[in-house]
Amino acid sequence: MAAILWIILSVGLVFGKPIIENFSELKRFPFVTYAKVWVGTPAESKEVAVPNVVIAYGRREPAQVVAVAAEIAYYLGQWTEDVGLNPRDVRKGRIPSVVMPLGKALETGKHIVIVGTRNRVVRDLGLTFRGPTLKVVEYKGRKVLVVGGRNSKEVVKAGRFLATRIVGFKAGAYRTFFSFVKLRGLIEKGEYEAALHLIRDPLGLSACGKNMSLAAPMMLRFPPDVKKIVKRRNRIMYTEIARALTAGNGEEAKRLWREAMKTCYRCHQGLGIERLRKFVPNAEIHSRHQRIARSFGLDCTACHRGVTEIRGY
Ligand code: HEC
Ligand code: HEC
Repeated sequence: MAAILWIILSVGLVFGKPIIENFSELKRFPFVTYAKVWVGTPAESKEVAVPNVVIAYGRREPAQVVAVAAEIAYYLGQWTEDVGLNPRDVRKGRIPSVVMPLGKALETGKHIVIVGTRNRVVRDLGLTFRGPTLKVVEYKGRKVLVVGGRNSKEVVKAGRFLATRIVGFKAGAYRTFFSFVKLRGLIEKGEYEAALHLIRDPLGLSACGKNMSLAAPMMLRFPPDVKKIVKRRNRIMYTEIARALTAGNGEEAKRLWREAMKTCYRCHQGLGIERLRKFVPNAEIHSRHQRIARSFGLDCTACHRGVTEIRGY
């Protein structure tokens, strides 16, 4: 048993993967939320993705640990659309920030990503580490994601994984997902020109290029049936729908859109292949797609029927 565990751990480390102690909790961590921002300005906006966490570090951490906290913040910034600005707070000198020492972080009501081990959370909970680690705990009524390790080097390793492979990955995945739903809405409304722009937009459907780049080493190890699904998804999303729209053929674009959605379900639910997304998404973050769809007059069954019927978190 110990030997098997050791092999699994070392294989993980070879690929730069930290020890993840509670996988689903980590994947469902509430990194972002949606808020009303710029209230009282003409551009007031009802649903904007803002950070739901602050990124914290202990006061005695070395510079490289603080630097990795900043790197996590950078990728979080790619996921969010604003830091959560409202003119009233700004007038009072309160501009939200994202990276701060733990003492300050605990004064905010937010969930915390704590980078490093020289801090109160790790001491109070008596946490110990066997290598680069990501671990979700509860502390003083909030969720805390601990980025730990036996030394600073291991903390940095775990922190970089969190920044790029988790937060950065989700940034691309969600931008693409919400754009994919919007794309369907635009096709329904006959707005083909806007739909074509959305397909090419690096913050739109093409945001997923980031994920394809991050997944490049994984792609090589995928079994052939999974590779086929990926290629099919990409061909439909980036070439065939665009071709149908350029030809003004909305019905064909809609049929292709539906074929692309089936590929999401094949990997996420494991239809005909091994299930690749091994957790149920965070409902609060995911559900924005439903409101985007509704804003185009689409109800759930426009998309969730037949093999893509599942819609329960
Ligand atoms: C080749 C398989 C595959 C295909 C095809 C695929 N996905 Fe995924 N997707 C995954 C995996 C695996 C994950 C989880 C990665 C992880 O462990 O964080 C994921 C995660 C996501 C997430 C992040 C969810 C979260 O809670 O972290 C979103 C959003 C997403 N996919 C959207 C889509 C959409 C939309 C499509 C179809 C247009 C799609 N995916 C097609 C494999 C796939
Ligand atoms: C315009 C199309 C569209 C509409 C309308 C729509 N969805 Fe979705 N939904 C999607 C796509 C695409 C996915 C695939 C992404 C994924 O699996 O994470 C998805 C995924 C989901 C999931 C995740 C399933 C899981 O466990 O992985 C749930 C839950 C869900 N939708 C609920 C709803 C509900 C409830 C409604 C109506 C209020 C709705 N959706 C309307 C396109 C749509």
